[in-house]
Amino acid sequence: MNNLEIVILAAGKGTRMKSSIPKVLQPLGGKPIVEHVLDTAQTLIPKKIHLVVNDEIKNEFEHLKGKFNLIIQKKQLGTGDAIKAAVKSLEKNSNILVLYGDVPLMHLSTLKKIIKFKKDEINILCFNKEEQNDYGKVILGTNGLVNEVIEQKELKKNENFYLCNSGIFSIHSSLLTKLMPKINNKNIKKEYYLTDIFKMASNSDIKIKSVITSEKEVYGINDKKDLAMAENEFQENLRDKHLKAGVTMHDPSTVYLSEDTKIGKDVIIHPFVVIGKNVKILNGAEIYSFSHLEDCKIGKKTSIGPYARIRPGTQIIDHAKVGNFVEVKNSIIDTNSKINHLSYVGDSIIGKNVNVGAGTITCNYDGRAKYKTVIRDNAFIGSNSSLIAPLEIGKNAYIGSGSTITKKVKQDSLAVERSVQMEVKNWAKRKNKK
Ligand code: UD1
Ligand code: MG
Repeated sequence: MNNLEIVILAAGKGTRMKSSIPKVLQPLGGKPIVEHVLDTAQTLIPKKIHLVVNDEIKNEFEHLKGKFNLIIQKKQLGTGDAIKAAVKSLEKNSNILVLYGDVPLMHLSTLKKIIKFKKDEINILCFNKEEQNDYGKVILGTNGLVNEVIEQKELKKNENFYLCNSGIFSIHSSLLTKLMPKINNKNIKKEYYLTDIFKMASNSDIKIKSVITSEKEVYGINDKKDLAMAENEFQENLRDKHLKAGVTMHDPSTVYLSEDTKIGKDVIIHPFVVIGKNVKILNGAEIYSFSHLEDCKIGKKTSIGPYARIRPGTQIIDHAKVGNFVEVKNSIIDTNSKINHLSYVGDSIIGKNVNVGAGTITCNYDGRAKYKTVIRDNAFIGSNSSLIAPLEIGKNAYIGSGSTITKKVKQDSLAVERSVQMEVKNWAKRKNKK
């Protein structure tokens, strides 16, 4: 919209989070909370996005430079003070949408309802909630318009209001600029409350409309409990998206996904699977229970788990199988290869049709550096082998079970490294006679 500017307030201290990570940078679905807000803001295609942050987190946004105007609020004196920092940057004749950096789940269709309005009109996004809560309360007049928003802490003990303020509202830049200097900090928290402008506006006969939405869409995340609730909601939305796109999940509520998870057709995800950032699962793959995947690509018709851990930098190519209690890190497992049980494969390139026996370990680390293991096509690694990297095992080669392999094994060879078996006949009988 060519007349729209968006202001995102994200400079607060976030003390209720009780964390060394600033509140708006806490991950939600694997992405900082405020980046969700920024992404939604961008989808509205505004003229400008102004992001108000504090000194401590300003460098975190270097990679998003150019996408918005970064404004620094020097001291965190409240939302009313944060908006003051932004007002200087606003154009004279813009529609302003104010978003809070800790309210990340709002839907585009809801925001669209409040961004078209008249110059002398304000729209506040609200929701109903009867249980006790800390949200600001929206007070309506007899005409159904908003009279004021009172912060929960400022309410008298016997007052109960159920209409809550989401923090999100739209206002014309000229009206915001006029009202904003009048905000003071004469209240219990000695903070500049942005919400004070609503009373000033209604006193000047400005129409303030309340637009009702569901609480789920406008969770304000202040502490870890809020974050957990928002994550729940976010995960549910993500799962719905993938279910509608044709992914099979037998017990969806136990599957955790990331915002950037890409899943192809006819993929089956069994209960209790966790998918971290940057995971792509191609058509027909099946992910069995209790598997954990991050930053990896899972090929077509592959089978992963149960109990598999696929770590960053891994590519499992089509029709491969990674079974129970197998950990794979920074490795390529090519077509049709199998690592079925109890193995660690790290920094390795495994060719096509390779069988890695149970208990095989690629010993990739000598305490100082990491080394590569290369296993060529059709090789067979016997169970319980230790492959000391750097190492190459040639095409069609066999490794005898229980071997510790330290040297390159040539194509078509058999390498065995273990003592010859000894047998003492009737030893047990003699022992038992004593
Ligand atoms: C605020 C609202 C409340 C509303 C709730 C919705 C006010 C006074 N209260 O309360 O009515 O129901 O959100 O979630 O606005 N921030 C700054 N600078 C500051 C303080 C805060 O940029 O000095 C930012 C925060 O980073 C946050 C947002 O403003 O993203 C809201 O601040 P927060 O302290 O979380 O306000 P709430 O107590 O949640
Ligand atoms: Mg908040």
